[in-house]
This record gives sequence, structure tokens and C-alpha cells, in this order.
Amino acid sequence: MTQEITLRRPDDWHLHLRDGAMLQGVLPETARHFARAIIMPNLVPPVVTGAQAAQYRDRILAALPEGASFQPLMTLYLTESTDAEDVAAAHASGLVKAVKLYPAGATTNSHGGVHDVDKVMPVLEKMAQIGLPLCVHGEVTDPQVDIFDREAVFIDTVLDPLRRRLPSLRVVMEHITTQDGADYARDGGPNLGATITTHHLIINRNHMLVGGIKPHYYCLPVAKREKHRLALRAAATSGAGRYFLGTDSAPHVDALKEHACGCAGCFTATNTMALLAHVFEEDGALDRLEDFASLNGPAFYGLPANEACIRLVKHDSPQHWPEKIFTEAGPVTVFNPGYPVHWSVEA
Ligand code: NCD
Ligand code: ZN
Repeated sequence: MTQEITLRRPDDWHLHLRDGAMLQGVLPETARHFARAIIMPNLVPPVVTGAQAAQYRDRILAALPEGASFQPLMTLYLTESTDAEDVAAAHASGLVKAVKLYPAGATTNSHGGVHDVDKVMPVLEKMAQIGLPLCVHGEVTDPQVDIFDREAVFIDTVLDPLRRRLPSLRVVMEHITTQDGADYARDGGPNLGATITTHHLIINRNHMLVGGIKPHYYCLPVAKREKHRLALRAAATSGAGRYFLGTDSAPHVDALKEHACGCAGCFTATNTMALLAHVFEEDGALDRLEDFASLNGPAFYGLPANEACIRLVKHDSPQHWPEKIFTEAGPVTVFNPGYPVHWSVEA
């Protein structure tokens, strides 16, 4: 029996589009279903200034397919020499919607990020004053800390102290992967939000490691134990305003994923909405998918929800999407949940 639901058009509050040939190849995958996305600034070199963000936005708009309606929401990559006045001007002009904090060395192209939060306090104070959100990659980089503990340790040793020091700063905990992250976001008050990816609702670390290493399930923060996946599912499907979709769709060409030192990132832009319909249906929460994917994010960012709608249809037979996207930079494997999915997005 076919079943269907209609939602306001969703937005993606954490997305990697890259640049050049990769941008050209992956942008249509997001623009097909999403109205807006917060665009991550970890290019090489990173998007640090307002002028660089304006140029990057123009390259994104130029790469959009004919007739697509998609609005990139730009971010700046925070460094220890970021100029608070440049940030304020980029925000005042409407160009920049958030600033991204990467602890130096935490993930892909983060070496220019922040070593010492003290050094960026003047920028953060300015952001608190003007209401510009800080998106945080929440992992410590101390080699002594086990990779599976890095999010929880970050919350205790970096995020919580920062928020006590500057309670008026609006913060988004990006791609939370633990119960600790979900709990902290739940209790954090109205200045705190958290994005959750599609893939962290689907895989735990066993999926990545048991029966052979699955490079296309490797991302950062790395998938954790099953109890954490279940905590993320409970958070996302609760409808609570604190949690919203940030796919963290992060394309890398297959040659760099299937590699002796494989890159981190899952590419989910193509099938995210179908996968989310499956997940929310499984948890008896289809009526809360719109909160997670279309309403909570705009409310946090102070933007209107989208007026247009999309229709998700459940079919009798499993639905299929391309196994790979063939970009001019090389093939990119689309995230495979490992089970049949009967949902699709219909025009
Ligand atoms: C992202 C990327 O490839 O840029 N990778 C990832 O595994 N998520 C960076 C990030 O968001 O950590
Ligand atoms: Zn990311």
C-alpha cells in the first residue's frame, strides 16, 4: 500500500559542497530537495573573510542547474587571526549566517583552525553581541584522548566552559554523535542547538568495522556505539526544537575514500530525505520529520520556514538511487544504508 507525507521543503544546516568540478557535480544532488543549506567553509584555502565568502557564494550560484531554487547560507572559517569587524560586516550585509569553529587538526582541512579559544574571544564576544551563531566541530584533538571519547571530552573541557564564559553566544553543536551530546543540547537553553546527520541515525561503529572495514561509513566525528545511535534517534525523532538536520554530506572521490589513509566523510545529499522517512517511520515519528528537517533549523537561525513543500512517497517495492555520482573530479559513492528503503521524494 502506498503511503505519503507532505512536508515544508527541508533545509540542510551543515553541508560540504567543495569547489570547482566537485561543486558542479554534487550541488544538483542537494538543490533537488533542499531550499537552503549552511555551507561549510573548509575549502583549500579556507573561506576566512567576508570577501572570500561572497566569491564562494557566487561560484555556488553559478554552478546551480537551470531553474533550481537553492540559497546557500554562507559561513566563515574561524582562525586565530580572524578580524571581528570583518565578521560583523559580513553578517550585517546578510551574507554570512554563522562562523565555524574547527579545533585545529580535528577533521578535513582544519589545520588552519583554532588551537586556543582564548585567542578568538574578541571575535566570539562580537558574535554574541550581534547574535551571529557559532557552529562548533565538537571534538578535542589531544592525541591522548581516544577518538571515541573526543566529543564527550570536548563538551566538558571546551564547550561548557566557553558557554559559561559567554552565555549569550548562540552555539550549534554540529553533527552530534553521542548520548552526551544529545543530553547536553537538550539541557542547554535557547542559545544552544545541535545538528544531527542522516548517517549517524543509521550506522554505529560496528557497521563500519565488523566483517571488513567500510571506508564509505568512515566520517568525523566517527560513528559510536549503538547506545549513542539510539540516543540520536530519540533526539531527532522527538521533534524537540533543539535538534535539526545537518546532513554533513561530505563528498570525497572514491580514490581518496578507498585508500590506505582514507578521507572522512559520508555523501548523503542524494538520498537523505528518503532515508529519513524510513528512519522516522521505523520510530513511529513520521509526523515529526517536518520539525527535524524543515522547521527547527529556521527557527534557531531566525529565518522563515520554506513555503514550498516536498512529497515523500512509500512504495511497495524498494527504491533505488545511483550507487555513485560521476563528477568531473571522479566518482563519489552515495551513502548506502545497507537495507532496502521504500521511500522516495516525488516532484
Ligand atoms: C568533513 C569533510 O570532509 O569536510 N568530513 C566528515 O567526515 N564529516 C569535515 C567535517 O565536517 O568534520
Ligand atoms: Zn562537516
